[in-house]
Amino acid sequence: MKSTRQAVLLIGSAKRAGESTSEALGAYLATRLRVQGVEVTTFAVHRALRTPARTRTLLAAVDDSDLLMLAFPLYVDTLPALVTQALETIAAHRHALGAPRPSWLLALANCGFPEAAHNEVALEICQNFAAEAGMRWAGGLALGAGGAVHGGAIAGRGMTHTVARALDLTAAALSTDQPAPEEALALMRTPLMPGRLYTLMGNLGWHRMAQRNRVWRRLDDRPLT
Ligand SMILES: Cc1cc2nc3c(=O)[nH]c(=O)nc-3n(C[C@H](O)[C@H](O)[C@H](O)COP(=O)(O)O)c2cc1C
Repeated sequence: MKSTRQAVLLIGSAKRAGESTSEALGAYLATRLRVQGVEVTTFAVHRALRTPARTRTLLAAVDDSDLLMLAFPLYVDTLPALVTQALETIAAHRHALGAPRPSWLLALANCGFPEAAHNEVALEICQNFAAEAGMRWAGGLALGAGGAVHGGAIAGRGMTHTVARALDLTAAALSTDQPAPEEALALMRTPLMPGRLYTLMGNLGWHRMAQRNRVWRRLDDRPLT
């Protein structure tokens, strides 16, 4: 059986290290893949595209890999602009190569609203990119209520246990040259907590942030109307 040996993980969040849900999801998956003997190289998209030299480094790593994993937040119902730029750059590069390595593409999207379904269009865009770039589609994993993770470790116990299980199954499949199984996609879509609880916590966080920034009394201001 052919197996995946080299993988690239591209983190699409611009947040600081340790604060991003995309980073937490990607890091957990990378750890599980390493256990299966896969070498994973991680790039943050805002650093990887900053200069032409760094962009070339990213492209060379993708050229040499069997698997590209994109972990990104949903921004206004789609991919962050820098992730789109990275995909366009990779697709153009692979076209120029003529016969690029037949690698897999896996996408991991998370969004701020409680429902994972908001990620669907973005994942479809990733699937279209895979077809355009001559990559095999390994599946799109969608997580809702991503703010609840906020860079916290993914663990086999507690709130993220279904996420951990989904990523365990995905790593096992990818390392043996298979796409993510349906069970993994369904587990990732499982709500982390009841939607109302998430909204309540989100509102509390919003009020606390307003207090910290001394604008709590001005939350209802409408300066532009
Ligand atoms: C500019 C911007 C646009 C966003 N647009 C959406 C959106 O359309 N739908 C949604 O559910 N969440 C949206 N969010 C929330 C993020 O997807 C959410 O906070 C996510 O967990 C961030 O992931 P990260 O920690 O990996 O950056 C948006 C956040 C930002 C900063």
